[in-house]
Amino acid sequence: MKKVIIDVDTGIDDAIGLCLAVQSGQADIVGITTVNGNTSLEQATVNTTKVMKLLGREDVAIVKGANRPLLRDPHFEVSVHGNDGIGGALKEMEIVVNEDGFAPDFIIEQAAKYKGELTIILLAPMTNMALAIRKEPRLKDWVKELVIMGGAVSSPGNITPTAEYNIFIDPEAAKIVLHAGIPITLVGLDVTRQTLLTEADIERMNAGAVRDFVQESTTHYMNRHFQLTGNRACAMHDPLAVGVALDKSLVRTELHYVDVETKSDLCDGQTVCDFKGWLKKEPNVNVCVEVDRDRFIETLVDTLGR
Ligand code: BDR
Ligand code: CA
Repeated sequence: MKKVIIDVDTGIDDAIGLCLAVQSGQADIVGITTVNGNTSLEQATVNTTKVMKLLGREDVAIVKGANRPLLRDPHFEVSVHGNDGIGGALKEMEIVVNEDGFAPDFIIEQAAKYKGELTIILLAPMTNMALAIRKEPRLKDWVKELVIMGGAVSSPGNITPTAEYNIFIDPEAAKIVLHAGIPITLVGLDVTRQTLLTEADIERMNAGAVRDFVQESTTHYMNRHFQLTGNRACAMHDPLAVGVALDKSLVRTELHYVDVETKSDLCDGQTVCDFKGWLKKEPNVNVCVEVDRDRFIETLVDTLGR
């Protein structure tokens, strides 16, 4: 089993990513860290705690992190994820939120404990990871790999013409993380937009609490997609990153130099990938350029229905 920390701003697709990680039986989840992003830090932590209770995994540590980006103001994605971040699902569930610890410190502690073994799956703005790297530069020797849902190297953005949401919210943090010297796989919109989950896919899942949750939480998300495209479906951004962390053969990657724009009115948060080597810099990111959509969606349908 792969030892992982999952960093989330739960978020409908973060929640489904957590379901996939738990139900796969292939991830030894040493902890989950939460961060400001789709919704506030507090709400993201409540949502994460509820999802892990739904999955019967209240034993997994959930540790709160940054309540705002490094330098910028928060910007919540209510139009996609709803007011509560998970489209109104699990409203009645009662939970107790863990108030102990701070995510960047937790990441450092676990990386020191499991040197060379830990994969960190980043499904949110990268504020927690950047703070951890700044505090403990030896993370570059301790962390096995980062799998990041973020960026768009050859396709348009989803929050500005050129920027993907997770990078746009905290571009300074993203820059620190991409240049930290840790092996990185970047699962960007170029591939995640291809992994659309449809209502028919959800119908094919075995009935149960997880399917009910997916059905209820994605209704809002699908409405938004329908308004934009005329299709009732939603992109499995974060679940694909979890899928790739567990099985690299789902994607084809290319190793390139990637940087983040942080000083432009028009293009802040853009992930610039030097496909042609113009900048003559050492490649730092394995960029996902192709995905086996059908195999991933089949695995997701099968795993969530377990
Ligand atoms: C990313 O932004 C968030 O809204 C999603 O949860 C995902 O992590 C997609 O751009
Ligand atoms: Ca997310």
